[in-house]
Amino acid sequence: MPAPALAAGAGIGLRAPHYGEIARTRPALAFLEVHSENFFGDGGPALAVLEGLRADYALSFHGVGLSLGSADPLDERHLARLEALVCRFEPALVSEHLSWSSFGGIHANDLLPLPRTREAIDHVAGRIARVQDRLRRRILVENVSCYLELGEPAFPEWEFVDAVVRRAGCALLLDVNNVHVNAVNQGFDARAWLASVDPLLVAEYHLAGHERGERGLLDTHAAPVAPEVWTLFREAVARIGPRPTLIERDACIPPLEALLAEAAHADAILEASRSASLDRVEAPA
Ligand SMILES: [Fe+2]
Repeated sequence: MPAPALAAGAGIGLRAPHYGEIARTRPALAFLEVHSENFFGDGGPALAVLEGLRADYALSFHGVGLSLGSADPLDERHLARLEALVCRFEPALVSEHLSWSSFGGIHANDLLPLPRTREAIDHVAGRIARVQDRLRRRILVENVSCYLELGEPAFPEWEFVDAVVRRAGCALLLDVNNVHVNAVNQGFDARAWLASVDPLLVAEYHLAGHERGERGLLDTHAAPVAPEVWTLFREAVARIGPRPTLIERDACIPPLEALLAEAAHADAILEASRSASLDRVEAPA
């Protein structure tokens, strides 16, 4: 049975604490997102849950382990598993991060930033193009939160991301919270980042929560979306347009109704942008 078409509305991550409730109640959502690697096995309850939901929801497969920017060879075993999963479920969206997380076969449990150089653009864009050839589809790459600078950057982050996406022929997954976190920590204007984005390249938004650490903001995905990020999202949608939007929560998973309330707020902003009435969408309590 074909999956429902993807609408430019809000979705949430399908996470284990909510498997039963989502399967039972089938809340109205534009899509469900899963981390691809969690479904690489040949069987088990998680795959069975996803199989049971695929007829009712468009799916977004979001990868965290492909290490697109690494200097290591692309992990063909990982890619083969992703290819099999994509062939099986035919998700509406397949995405990864514009980052690296492995070197010399050793994997870090983090999404590390790339040096913003011309050489890095060529390198990562070539690897994204190879992944797309293998999967026979366009993928999305996500701008990541960044806590260190590797060398002297040749470009601001927004120019680097734009160049990679254009060179690779992929699409941009614009994580609005990551833009905010980097802007605060690095002292640039988040609006300059958003103003530089070509709307034609953006295929999805992410909205996540962050927390304040001793030395700045931490992109933890463990809190509700912050008011400043809602404001930035509203401005992004007004300029770029409505796109599928994920409420991204990976830790301190709240009751399902809390995520659905955030998704409803994102939907209200997306809907208002269609009628140019963004000023009338009130911030969530
Ligand atoms: Fe994200």
